[in-house]
Amino acid sequence: MTMRIAPSILSANFAHLASDITMIESAGADWVHVDVMDGRFVPNLTFGAKVIETLRGITELPLDVHMMVVEPEKYFDTFAAAGAATLTLHAEVAPHLHRQIGRIKELGCLAGVAVNPSTPLEMVRDVAGDLDLLLIMSVNPGFGGQSFIAHSLPKLRQARALLDAAGSHAVLEVDGGINRDTITSVWRAGADAVVAGHAVFGAPDPTVEIATLRQLCMETA
Ligand code: DX5
Ligand code: ZN
Repeated sequence: MTMRIAPSILSANFAHLASDITMIESAGADWVHVDVMDGRFVPNLTFGAKVIETLRGITELPLDVHMMVVEPEKYFDTFAAAGAATLTLHAEVAPHLHRQIGRIKELGCLAGVAVNPSTPLEMVRDVAGDLDLLLIMSVNPGFGGQSFIAHSLPKLRQARALLDAAGSHAVLEVDGGINRDTITSVWRAGADAVVAGHAVFGAPDPTVEIATLRQLCMETA
């Protein structure tokens, strides 16, 4: 198993989005992480279906769509049609998780659920076997470039155990504050995918940064 690396376009240069995407694709990124924010679930606004569709036209990489929105089901159909590979909704705004996961799969996408740093894993235990992806937030969502919250590490270990106990095939992804200093510990804690926005796009050479992050996981495999 190798670590999947999903650069977040939140920290990309939107004036040069196509070349930034081409660059991370050539550098060996596994997925493109797309942070959709609605100004309600989180105190920030980003983008929606139009940008997903635009990305779909410029890369072959799977689009890992992180929906930081209330009433996420409103967007499932349009985001799936726009070319999302994975739709990840937040457990905090999903009282009908089982039904919502089923709907995402009906649309032909992989189904993910995200939990905030203060949200207990218990929220996802009963659907663990249905998940394609479990996203552990290691910052409070809303902004790129924040610091990794330390208690995310024991939470990742618990999440790994929860997925294993459920016999789940879900990818365990971690999002927020991932960089050269934190990636090794999340890898050891059982994560198999990381989001990295600021670390990749804020680096002097994003190509080198992706290779370095990957290497740090291989060395400690
Ligand atoms: C935060 C987003 C993250 C963010 C990660 O709300 O969900 O995906 O872009 O940013 P970095 O990697 O900069 O901490
Ligand atoms: Zn994200």
